[in-house]
Amino acid sequence: MTLEDESDVAVSEAQIAVHWREEELYFPPAAFVGQANASDPAIFERFKEENFPECYREYADLLTWDQYWHTTLDTSNAPFWKWFVGGKLNVSYNCVDRHLATQRNKAALIWVPEPEEEQTQAITYQELYRRVNEFAALLRDFGGVQTGDRVTFHLPMVPELPVSMLACARLGVIHSQVFGGFSGSACGGRIADSQSRILVTMDGYYRNGELIDHKAKADEAVARAREEGVEVERVLVWRRHPGQYASESPMVEGRDFFVDELLAEYRDQIVEPVSMPAEAPLFLMYTSGTTGKPKGAQHSTGGYLAYVAGTSKYYQDIHPDDTYWCFADIGWITGHSYIVYGPLALGTTSVMYEGVPTYPDPGRPWRIAERLGVNIFHTAPTTIRMLRKVGPDEPNKYNYHFKHMTTVGEPIEPEVWRWYRDVVGKGEAVIVDTWWQTENGGFLGSTLPALQPMKPGSCGPGVLGVFPVIYDEHGEEVSAGSGRAGNICIRNPWPGIFQTIWGQPERFLDIYYRKYCRDEKSTDWHDWPYFAGDGAMQAADGYFRILGRVDDVINVAGHRLGTKELESAALTVDKVAEAAAVPVMDDLRGRAVEMYVSLKPGYEAGTDIEHEVALAIENEIGKIARPKNVWVVPDMPKTRSGKIMRRVTAGISNFTDVGDVTTLANPEIVEKIRIQVHAAKMASGQLPRELTAAELEEIKGFGHAD
Ligand code: PRX
Repeated sequence: MTLEDESDVAVSEAQIAVHWREEELYFPPAAFVGQANASDPAIFERFKEENFPECYREYADLLTWDQYWHTTLDTSNAPFWKWFVGGKLNVSYNCVDRHLATQRNKAALIWVPEPEEEQTQAITYQELYRRVNEFAALLRDFGGVQTGDRVTFHLPMVPELPVSMLACARLGVIHSQVFGGFSGSACGGRIADSQSRILVTMDGYYRNGELIDHKAKADEAVARAREEGVEVERVLVWRRHPGQYASESPMVEGRDFFVDELLAEYRDQIVEPVSMPAEAPLFLMYTSGTTGKPKGAQHSTGGYLAYVAGTSKYYQDIHPDDTYWCFADIGWITGHSYIVYGPLALGTTSVMYEGVPTYPDPGRPWRIAERLGVNIFHTAPTTIRMLRKVGPDEPNKYNYHFKHMTTVGEPIEPEVWRWYRDVVGKGEAVIVDTWWQTENGGFLGSTLPALQPMKPGSCGPGVLGVFPVIYDEHGEEVSAGSGRAGNICIRNPWPGIFQTIWGQPERFLDIYYRKYCRDEKSTDWHDWPYFAGDGAMQAADGYFRILGRVDDVINVAGHRLGTKELESAALTVDKVAEAAAVPVMDDLRGRAVEMYVSLKPGYEAGTDIEHEVALAIENEIGKIARPKNVWVVPDMPKTRSGKIMRRVTAGISNFTDVGDVTTLANPEIVEKIRIQVHAAKMASGQLPRELTAAELEEIKGFGHAD
């Protein structure tokens, strides 16, 4: 770094004092406490630091092991932690077979199709057992997959997705589900990275009243994977309506097959669950980071399942006779852990919904809750904000009762939290705000619902056996109640932690551990704090308030989009010379993306280029990433060494003070861009709104990971 650069480095989170009002505490209703899985404070004793790591036996003991483990935590190859070493188990057996003895014909999954006139499907544990076995037989005998192979899914929210996951788990095959809303190209990149020979997809699905053609994306995915040197041999296509094809895209002879047709041959087949070592990988989940290429977070079998079962039991308060609805997408880690694996490991009924929250009207979620008797509800702030905006009184019209509600994925504004509690929860439910990440497998920060009060906007303290700490840039601890923010880290490993980035162990070390490692040769976990990439502050009572990413990831409606990924998508447009992605505050989605692009010589700005850039991003990543605005600017604000100053463009997009720009190489451009962008925003009704202290700090700090 040059000296000139140093003066441009934005203030780090750790130096920022963020001021806000301390929120009051809310206590759980007595009826909840009376029935809670964790209602005895002795649980804190059992999980205190001196009992680590053996405390996690309690989670592992929720599972059925084929062979018990001999070492709870092996740190010999730090920080590639191994949990429950020597143990063997099968995830599909734990989530399905073992429940047959006592609850064979209880619903495991209840699937609600988006069209309201279409019948809800209740899939019993027995039926799930059949479907999983049949698809496992097909994958093994027709697909030719073997233990340890990877299979990519690009599936929407249909029961075929958990069936496919559990079929892979039964065989010890590693699944990699790509969010259904992502583009074919994004899927292809992930196929190539994981070297999957099989893609499992669906012809179509309903979204906002429309039957979307999804199979077309499979063709793009296969083409993209081929460009990256990986040949997909089989595309297995589930049909939304078996027997009818919902896509315009032709089936490729010898490559594409309808699963419903193939399954006829596997009817009633039983596949013995493969007994897997606890530390064998169970699945990959790709997520965005600082660099362009998504990283495949590799999750384990024993540690992961134990962790999601334990946290589902104590934090989600799931009992076998609950009707639990996590309104999230399974293409997201939340869905893996808290729609499929955690709830099914505990033998409860897990509800899945295909469509959007407001279809056909904003009363839909509450009708589903009433009709099915849902008593635990789990969703993201973006959904809560949307439902609050378009149907603030809708919940009152329906007769459902939640004992427990969850929020996950983004910071929730205290006003939105209060609406969630008072209107959605009718004042009867406890709320857990759960902070964690794709890489973590399960919750890291939350409250034990019967034992720790709720505080709007704060996730709570570290969960059982997880010991967070806030460090400043120099590795000094930022103390609770200091009013200062810093980088939240976890001091210790926990069973749900991902094992590595698929195929990139060095990158794993670099991103998550190098920053605060005390001694790279050490095999003592105390020397290896996990760097989460979030800014946070801790109140005097120990509760954490998460401020957002510190690594240039933009969290749009709970989806992590890396600035580099967005920028490389924009750069696929030939005319674009440079691109910078920044977040803009959005009342519904939390953050939206704005793109700044400058053009190669000889090209003129115009709406056609704006469209091309937006389309390129949609094609490369998916609709979710579509920018709110594309600004074609004469030049980017840059440091003298040529670095694009994203905090300046972020400030302009959010109408905030851009700070000192006099040391830039081209300070005059800032005012030009500001006038251009602000005039266009005002003309289209995108008016400035007041930002909270935390939002202001996020904008000021944006881009400091450069
Ligand atoms: O910035 C944090 C935010 O979402 C990021 C993780 O995103 P992802 O890997 O997609 O996983 C989301 C679901 C687990 C975090 O780094 N985040 C997640 N939960 C919260 C949150 N921010 C504030 N409060 C939360 N409860």
